[in-house]
Amino acid sequence: MEFVVWNCSQLVTLAGPPRARIGPEMRDLAIVLDGAMLVRDGRIAAIGKRGAMEGAVSPSTDVVDAGGRIVLPGFVDAHTHPIFAGTRADEFEQRAEGATYAEIAARGGGIRSTVRRTRNAGETELLDTARKYRDWFLRGGTTTIEAKSGYGLSLDSELKILRVIQQLAAERKLRYVPTFLGAHEIPDEYRGRIDAYIDLVIHEMLPRVAQQRLAEYCDVFCEPSVFPADKARVILRAARNLGFGLRLHADQFSAGEGARLAAEVGAATADHLEATGPQGLQALRAAHVQPVLLPASVYNLGSSHYPAARSMIDLGLPIVLATDFNPGSSPTTSMPMVLSLASAHMKLTPAEALTAATINAAYSLRRGHEIGSLEPGKLADFAIHDCADYRELPYFFGREPARAVYIGGVSVL
Ligand code: NIG
Ligand code: FE
Repeated sequence: MEFVVWNCSQLVTLAGPPRARIGPEMRDLAIVLDGAMLVRDGRIAAIGKRGAMEGAVSPSTDVVDAGGRIVLPGFVDAHTHPIFAGTRADEFEQRAEGATYAEIAARGGGIRSTVRRTRNAGETELLDTARKYRDWFLRGGTTTIEAKSGYGLSLDSELKILRVIQQLAAERKLRYVPTFLGAHEIPDEYRGRIDAYIDLVIHEMLPRVAQQRLAEYCDVFCEPSVFPADKARVILRAARNLGFGLRLHADQFSAGEGARLAAEVGAATADHLEATGPQGLQALRAAHVQPVLLPASVYNLGSSHYPAARSMIDLGLPIVLATDFNPGSSPTTSMPMVLSLASAHMKLTPAEALTAATINAAYSLRRGHEIGSLEPGKLADFAIHDCADYRELPYFFGREPARAVYIGGVSVL
């Protein structure tokens, strides 16, 4: 099976060194003007100017005409919570009336309210809802997501959520990288007994998840009022001993120990970092931890406290951008919206934001050799967006410009 994509105003390849990009490298998108891409058996066979590619194409080659639009690698959304029942539109309304996210959580709402509903939902119901959200991701031009559990918080419910992710991955319309987030909150029945809950996570949940190979990563919500650093450390070490890669919700609301803990345990990523100071950033750099920045949750919570993305780039940190899609702090699947927020509020150039949302995100998930850029040998995961210039993606904000999306050379939108 072979086809060529041509008539691209810009073929935005992000070709470059085989690692996450830092500093000025983040501005180099390796764009081919009037480019063409040859896809064979699901992988990219060649990239070049249209003129040069015409000779390589045989009469049996199918043609995908990009219509003078831009072609990009599929977005790699490296932080999402996409399996949950119900919404929290009621809490959104309460926040508009003045309540804060922390107040709502303290009175039993927030994550725990989604946990109650998700526990009561059957696997089929969760699967149907997650398929709807999968289509939303595709419409934003996303082809891979990291997908966390974390709305079950009991052995059976966490396994149920991870099985739903496994099933979605098998359907091959979107790529999923599963993460176990059993330490997302203390569930109702363990309030005031955090150590007992941690025992459950370490001695029952983690070993079962590992044995059934249901997750590649383990994440913990490290926050003084949820899992403080000394508690989070115990869970992360246990996960590391079982072979999980580590990711961490770190310093979202408080300048705690999150970033330093991520560095200490050798996490792949430290996510959020809205409250992290210069020492925390230095620790991440020394330990090669990638920051994952989630500006849509800052925006949606009505805060203006965006993470210090420019300082991170200046320090040489290979930053990643993601949606944090979840029913509470960030109900969006839209990477174009995230790019817009990154440019308007974090002062990333559109090129830096695009690098953070593709190749850097792919490396944060140990998949940089397969996805995240358009280079010969890689999987043909790409999107045609209805723009003539890649800068229009964040500029015309609030729309989903993907016209066509391919995963492994198969048309999925
Ligand atoms: O990344 N902070 C913890 N987890 C999510 C919020 C989840 C929720 O509110 O349901 C986050 O923002
Ligand atoms: Fe999150």
